[in-house]
Amino acid sequence: MEPKLSKTIIETRNLTRIYALGESNVIGINTIDLSIDAGELVVLKGDSGSGKSTLLSLLAGLDRPTRGELTVADHDLTTATPANLTHFRREVVGMVFQAFNLMPTLNVLENASLPGLLAGKNPDLVTSKAAELLDWLGLSRRRDHLPAQLSGGEMQRTAIARALINDPEIIIADEPTGNLDSRNGQIVVDLLAQLNRKWKRTVIIATHSSLADSMATVKINLKDGMISE
Ligand SMILES: Nc1ncnc2c1ncn2[C@@H]1O[C@H](COP(=O)(O)OP(=O)(O)OP(=O)(O)O)[C@@H](O)[C@H]1O
Ligand SMILES: [Mg+2]
Repeated sequence: MEPKLSKTIIETRNLTRIYALGESNVIGINTIDLSIDAGELVVLKGDSGSGKSTLLSLLAGLDRPTRGELTVADHDLTTATPANLTHFRREVVGMVFQAFNLMPTLNVLENASLPGLLAGKNPDLVTSKAAELLDWLGLSRRRDHLPAQLSGGEMQRTAIARALINDPEIIIADEPTGNLDSRNGQIVVDLLAQLNRKWKRTVIIATHSSLADSMATVKINLKDGMISE
């Protein structure tokens, strides 16, 4: 991987997501203004329901804002076409979830390779890159295993390999340690910190745990969908 750096990588203005539920509206996030420089390690905190996952889904191009401005890595996500968003999700951001979200019928190497193959890259190159990432993640002996044969920590490291296969500028992790014991949680946080420090990736972690606190270069607290101090 090549180290990457530019200037502001995430910029939001009045970013708002309101969920329409029948007659009533639920506020996900409310008028959020953010400016994040490339190379930061952002730790996002807040009570359950404060809007962390809502914000991360918008930043990752998985969801669209109700209103406001949202620019990520020079992509205007408010006006992006569905094809732009697909490209963005595949190549610009790598996403890691609490529940791992691996494909149960694919082995570790295939899971890690999948986004590269979906992006139409050369299968041999994708496979060798996946193998390299799995080595780095300490999973070389698990390549042929199915997710059901892995520990939680191994599943999450497979998910990290998958998130990195297309060399994204930004890694977004939503409660990545939520299903792990503290030892494996620490391993995952250390890997994310290494991606940030060594490879200069911008990393954003939403978490209830304090494992990532000491790694943060930026801390953001959400309360009722808004940034609080
Ligand atoms: N798809 C949805 N439809 C309706 N309301 C939603 C939806 N997703 C989230 N919400 C609501 O938006 C608000 C913010 O939710 P969000 O999931 O972003 O919180 P969170 O900070 O990630 O919480 P947790 O720590 O429990 O993961 C909550 O009130 C939630 O009920
Ligand atoms: Mg959440």
